Order: sequence, then structure tokens, then C-alpha cells
Amino acid sequence: MIENITVIGAGTMGLGIGHVAALAGYNVTLNDISMDILSQAMDVIKKNMEKGIERGKLDKPAMDIALKRIVLEADIEKAAKGADLIIEAIIEKLDVKCALFQKIDEICKAETIFASNTSALSITELAAATPRTERFVGTHFFNPVHIMRLVEIVKGLETSDDTVDTIAEVIKRMGKESVIVKDSPGFATSRINAMIGNESFFMLQEGVASAEDIDKAIKLGLNHPMGPFELVDLVGLDIRLNVLKDLHKRLGEKFRPCPLLEKYVNAGRLGRKVGRGVYEYDK
Ligand code: NAI
Repeated sequence: MIENITVIGAGTMGLGIGHVAALAGYNVTLNDISMDILSQAMDVIKKNMEKGIERGKLDKPAMDIALKRIVLEADIEKAAKGADLIIEAIIEKLDVKCALFQKIDEICKAETIFASNTSALSITELAAATPRTERFVGTHFFNPVHIMRLVEIVKGLETSDDTVDTIAEVIKRMGKESVIVKDSPGFATSRINAMIGNESFFMLQEGVASAEDIDKAIKLGLNHPMGPFELVDLVGLDIRLNVLKDLHKRLGEKFRPCPLLEKYVNAGRLGRKVGRGVYEYDK
């Protein structure tokens, strides 16, 4: 039975996971490397919940109860100790994540389930950093966590069915839908998304249509909420290029990054964050 969830890493994803876990009635401990980061994260959670009230998704008493369920703890030993479930959302670096899992494996009880929110690393490889490979799973949340409905549950080579069932229950209680995917590069969503995004650049490069018309076609003809170029401008062209390079290495030729995408990145057209990507934005 999961009651106490510790989220390690209180950045973009971790604070969102803390937000939905607290609203679902779990006791949440948020951990990060400093109290400053943790209190900033708490401010963002509060703001996001207040926006939820404005949008009629939440009421004030529910927000107050949820906020009280969140404890901020910068000491990893204290944060991890009583957890039934750890959800890790720190930087995307294999060695840093493995070191963290090794450390908390010594602190946590044997039954504690470990989950990683990694977007691209192998769950099997992360699990191998600990002896609890059966109780290790991927939980791939989407950004912004409090709004996006899906979580991909990633089953490593040795993840047990019990662990998957327990996690599926937790995700359901958080009000999310889940899908179960085998540990494989790009899981289900990033793999398809990278393919669509890359193909769109090939189409632009070949002069099939303008960027605006490709976006319009995909939105109105295929019912995607955003066009592939609008989306890549939001995600960052450099981030998309890195994902494609990784998938190319692991899944083969069909993911070779389009030269036009590489050209945009080399030109510094990285997307909305710098004011220009495929499109130009007012700073
Ligand atoms: P972020 O950079 O916003 O936050 C990471 C946080 O982890 C920072 O606050 C940092 O101080 C903290 N941190 C680093 N090392 C730590 C340690 N040893 N102990 C405790 N805290 C530590 O990163 P973001 O975007 O939230 O990503 C987190 C994870 O989620 C990554 O694995 C990423 O690949 C994955 N992810 C990100 C998505 C996104 O759209 N940003 C979507 C889905 C997955």
C-alpha cells in the first residue's frame, strides 16, 4: 500500500509530480539539493493550483489540504527514509541517477518501490544500480504534469508485474491514464514524436510545403493540437536533435536527423527560448 511518496528533484517535472500526488491524497516529501530550490518549487506548485481554482478544476479547501501534505526536505536521508515509493526526477545523467539510486537503496526499506521519470535512459540499466530490480520501474510523466493526462509506465527487464500493478494504481489515483511500455528507446511517445518531427523537416527541406502549411495540415487534417514546427519550437530544436541522435544510434537509419534540423541548430535557431526557431518570436 502506497501512502508516502518522496519525489527527488523539484524542477519542472518533480514539482508537477509532487503537485498531483498531494492532490491525490498522498503524503509527499519533496527533495532537492537546497532549501531555496524547494521553496521556489513550492511557490510554483501553489501558483499552479491557484490557476486550477481560476479554471474551475479545483477548490480552495482541496488546495489547502494538498499543500499541507507536502513536506520540503533537503536532507536525502530524512527524505527517503519513510517512503513507500520514490519518484526520481533529477537531471538526465545516467551516472548521477545511478549514484542516487545506490545511495537511497541503503536508506529505504526493502519494499520501497523506485521509479525514474527519465525521458530516454534505460530503466533496466538504472535498475541494475540497485539490488531491487523487481521493484524498479519507469514513470514517464509529461510536461506540464498537472495538465497532461498520460504517464508511460516503463517495464524494465526484471520489473515485476506486482510493481507495475501498484504503480498503475498510484497513477490512476493521481487522475492520470497510463500505458505500459517495454523498456525501449524513446518508449512509445518520444519515438513517434521524433519521427514525425524529423519527417516534417525533410518535407520542409524538399519544399513540399511551407512550415505554416505543414503545421496547418497536421492540425486540421490529423487533429494534432499543435503543428510539428510549433511543437519543436516549444521543445527546443537542440533537444529534439539530441533525441534523434540517440534514437539513430540505438534504432537505426530511419532516425537519422534531417540535415535542415542540424543547420537550424548550428545557426542558433533553437526555438522559442531564444526568440527564433522555425518561426520568429517577439522577445
Ligand atoms: P529540471 O532541471 O527542471 O529539474 C531537475 C532538478 O533536480 C533540479 O531542481 C536539480 O537541482 C535537482 N537535482 C539534481 N541533482 C539532484 C540530486 N542528486 N538530488 C536531488 N535533486 C537533484 O529537470 P526536469 O525537466 O524536471 O527533468 C527531470 C527528469 O525528468 C529528467 O530525467 C528528464 O529527462 C525527465 N523528463 C523531463 C521532461 C520535461 O519536459 N522537462 C518530460 C519528461 C521527462
